[in-house]
Amino acid sequence: MGWKCISWPKIIKGSSVKDLKVGSWVIPTAEDGTWRTYGVYSEEKLLKIDETLPLVSAATIYVNPCTAYRMLKDFEDLQEGSCVIQNGANSAVGQAVIQIAKHFKINTINVIRDRPNVESLKSYLTSLGATHVVVENELRNPLMADILKAFKCSAKLCRGKSAAELMRHMMDSELLLPMVPCQNSNDFMEV
Ligand SMILES: NC(=O)c1ccc[n+]([C@@H]2O[C@H](COP(=O)([O-])OP(=O)(O)OC[C@H]3O[C@@H](n4cnc5c(N)ncnc54)[C@H](OP(=O)(O)O)[C@@H]3O)[C@@H](O)[C@H]2O)c1
Repeated sequence: MGWKCISWPKIIKGSSVKDLKVGSWVIPTAEDGTWRTYGVYSEEKLLKIDETLPLVSAATIYVNPCTAYRMLKDFEDLQEGSCVIQNGANSAVGQAVIQIAKHFKINTINVIRDRPNVESLKSYLTSLGATHVVVENELRNPLMADILKAFKCSAKLCRGKSAAELMRHMMDSELLLPMVPCQNSNDFMEV
């Protein structure tokens, strides 16, 4: 089980091992997951990771950015200037969506839930490359309809109030609504 980890080979045996040394950063890619203290792997089952990455980024690179990338690439042919709208935008996957979309020059409208430090979260997501960051209750602002009409949007939604609001806007605007499910959670849904 589990896929998020960074591991370090403690013992290396065999002259055919070329790229790894004791202490290299690796992620085991064998199908038995990463929730273990020790394991025995052949070199090709270990993905070598750049050791200059922040540890947390390295440990999650095999899961969240890949999920975000596939959400952006597998469902629609999103071109430069396209737009993706997502709630749960501050989630790990949501942050990866923002950064990868920015790289591909895809706009993102990002919905977050209200909280005491909401302005600093908005600034943070904007610093990652978010085009717009809105709080759930701002979805009822008439300005939102104008923002949404300006884009042809694909959606990544988790269910609840914000998803209902987003769908209302998108249907009013006759915007495209394909879906990007997050398969592992009851909080996320296919629309
Ligand atoms: N390959 C895959 O299928 C794959 C890979 C990775 C992750 N996932 C799934 O993707 C989801 C996100 O994962 P993550 O690690 O990125 O999550 P995370 O960092 O733990 O963040 C969870 C997010 O969901 C939001 N949220 C929860 N309930 C909500 C609701 N009712 N309405 C609106 N927003 C809500 C939270 O908002 P607040 O901060 O406001 O609470 C937060 O933004 C998880 O369900 C995970 O299992 C799937």
